[in-house]
Amino acid sequence: MWCAGVVLMHERKSFFEMGLVSIYIIELVLLLITLISFKLVHGGIPTTLDGPFKPVTVPLDESFRGNATDLPDADPRVQKPVDDSQPEQISVSLSATYGSVWISWITGQFQIGDNINPLDPSSIQSVVFYGVYGNPLTLQATGHSLVYNQLYPFEGLQNYTSGIIHHVRLTGLKPNTLYQYQCGDPSIPAMSKLYYFKTMPVSGPKSYPSRIAVVGDLGLTYNTTSTIDHMISNHPDLVLLVGDICYADLYLTNGTGSNCYSCTFSQTPIHETYQPRWDYWGRYMQPLVSKVPIMAIEGNHEIEPQAENQTFVAYSSRFAFPSKKSRSSSTFYYSFNAGGIHFIMLGAYIAYSKTSDQHKWLERDLANVNREVTPWLVATWHPPWYSTYKAHYREAECMRVAMEDLLYKYRVDIVFNGHVHAYERSNRVFNYTLDPCGPLHIVVGDGGNREEIAIEHADDPGNCPEPSSTPDSYMGGFCAFNFTSGPAVGKFCWDQQPEYSALRESSFGHGILEMKNETHALWTWHRNKDLYKVAGDQIYIVRQPEKCPVEAEVTF
Ligand SMILES: [Fe+2]
Repeated sequence: MWCAGVVLMHERKSFFEMGLVSIYIIELVLLLITLISFKLVHGGIPTTLDGPFKPVTVPLDESFRGNATDLPDADPRVQKPVDDSQPEQISVSLSATYGSVWISWITGQFQIGDNINPLDPSSIQSVVFYGVYGNPLTLQATGHSLVYNQLYPFEGLQNYTSGIIHHVRLTGLKPNTLYQYQCGDPSIPAMSKLYYFKTMPVSGPKSYPSRIAVVGDLGLTYNTTSTIDHMISNHPDLVLLVGDICYADLYLTNGTGSNCYSCTFSQTPIHETYQPRWDYWGRYMQPLVSKVPIMAIEGNHEIEPQAENQTFVAYSSRFAFPSKKSRSSSTFYYSFNAGGIHFIMLGAYIAYSKTSDQHKWLERDLANVNREVTPWLVATWHPPWYSTYKAHYREAECMRVAMEDLLYKYRVDIVFNGHVHAYERSNRVFNYTLDPCGPLHIVVGDGGNREEIAIEHADDPGNCPEPSSTPDSYMGGFCAFNFTSGPAVGKFCWDQQPEYSALRESSFGHGILEMKNETHALWTWHRNKDLYKVAGDQIYIVRQPEKCPVEAEVTF
């Protein structure tokens, strides 16, 4: 009995001790789970909730400038790869929702010279056969075709007429589904090889494309090819191109190019272009954009003025846009959904004042966004409002004054811009003031064009531009007055990196946006000089809809 009693007591003590140990173990496991889940969720990556961040300028890597030389006409990647009747420059772009996409391509030869004879678009059909991957191509869509001309009524300048550009809209597509397609004219027959694309997921708070590549000011140099190689390695589901596409306007019509048109060709009667560069770009990009949808917005290098004051003709002709589907009357601004993200593509080189058609469209479009369906609101346009580089400093100030209020009230989460050939990420900002409900502005004008990288900052000694010199001559207006509040009050520039600038670096690269859920998005900027998977900058962008509710009236 005694022994048994001792044993019992011992067992009781053991149970008691074991209970304590168990509690400790449970607590330890819970702590570990918390730590691991934090690590899994954030991976030690900062979030915007940790901000505003102290401004950082990454020191310039003097040893790396890349190769800002355009691919020459003889490069095999820009040669016409097929016969005249066969499709080339094949691309996919999205319509307003997952249910439809555009397939675009070109047939026939462009012509350049004194005597050009535009091709007849009705001479060849625009047909796409398509079906879900693995099934026969039982579905068929027909579209429209066009040619465009670049005409210069000046002695000695050569005119251009394009091949036949085809745009076909496929409809009735299932979400998040791999389709295969062939495009061309079946009556010749002249159909393309088989290509594939995946539709966007259905719109909803838990439904997002995996990776969206964001790039600007791409051009067609050896830096561009490095950017695109890196981008392909990151397997994007969608490419967002924030303006300045092929830089055909750095060339005369005789094919002579320069890194600075106005410096080298200051005497030309009109700003000439060499339109075959567009065809080279379309050929170079086909391996990527025949499979991955690309959505573009115009930049200043797409202006391309010609006879009868026509502008943006190549841009508007070569791409297909969901303008009608997003109730825009223009190729210069439109919107679309990609899963739970609503993208707004704005035009900086068309009227944007409060009385303009674009402003009215933007108000309507924003009022119709249902954040229960598309929690993320992402806006893009070409020239940034928040860039601290000397190049283009405060150039788009009138656009900011006209539209920033509206984007703020509707709680745009992220803004992407290009134009400045460098990388910069802002803190959350509104009206030059740190604001936890303001958007994050990210400049990715570092795609790699031949104009080379931007290095100088407006806040470096002696770099602050004369205010009257800052507006873009095409955009016009003057709104860039001295700051009326904050540490730079009374001045046109800061004397150190502004507090709204979180990180800036002069390197070529591209970004990848990954929405994880309705509140967390991972933004990663990849530099060309790094290995593919290395992050030059990485941050979780966190939405706080309770803290920052939409202030404007929503009418959906
Ligand atoms: Fe630009």
